[in-house]
Amino acid sequence: MRKFNTENIPMPKITEFELPTLPLDVEIGCGVGLHPIQYAISNPNRYLVAIEHTTDKFKKFERRFTKHGNPQNLLPVHENGISWVTHLLPKESVSRFFFLFPNPNPKPGQQNKRFHAMPFMEKVIECLRPNGTIHVATNELFYAEESMEFMTNVWNLECVHNTIIEKDSEHIGRTHFERKYLERGQVIYDQIFRKKD
Ligand SMILES: C[S@@+](CC[C@H](N)C(=O)[O-])C[C@H]1O[C@@H](n2cnc3c(N)ncnc32)[C@H](O)[C@@H]1O
Repeated sequence: MRKFNTENIPMPKITEFELPTLPLDVEIGCGVGLHPIQYAISNPNRYLVAIEHTTDKFKKFERRFTKHGNPQNLLPVHENGISWVTHLLPKESVSRFFFLFPNPNPKPGQQNKRFHAMPFMEKVIECLRPNGTIHVATNELFYAEESMEFMTNVWNLECVHNTIIEKDSEHIGRTHFERKYLERGQVIYDQIFRKKD
């Protein structure tokens, strides 16, 4: 894997972030924000930064955020997650990263666009605290298999959770994409990787 070079990564628009006192979690590519809102409400003792770079989706997320009374432990960020994490997070500051239904970029020449295969993953892991986790969910079997291979063999993380989710009365979906895939009868590959101590 090529070394991650921060000099190639553009600066985010807002160049300051004060670390919260609560445990910090970061979601990259949160879409219209269903998961961040639910997560922040059900985890009042954690702080989530939820990042989305597509303007239309971020605007819907902001509206949802306002509708739910601006949860104080959630920061919606309209930005490229790679820029934001690279330039604003110190080492070992994050407890949990979430990559929920990242664009699979399925064409053969697109592997370098999948998060687990990017040099950027080195930075993500550097920002994780020891025992911190990276949560990946996808509806694509090839993506799940490749993620498992990279996360454990290239990045030396421990897989602590690897399950298949199907639609049932308990699970209607944590995100809009997950709901869509479950409605179609597809299964979800759900993986959590831990940074070794
Ligand atoms: C397939 S959608 C999934 C959205 C949401 N996680 C869900 O499951 O409903 C992938 C999202 O990731 C966003 N995204 C992709 N790369 C990103 C990046 N580098 N920084 C921020 N957002 C990103 C896209 O704009 C898109 O909204």
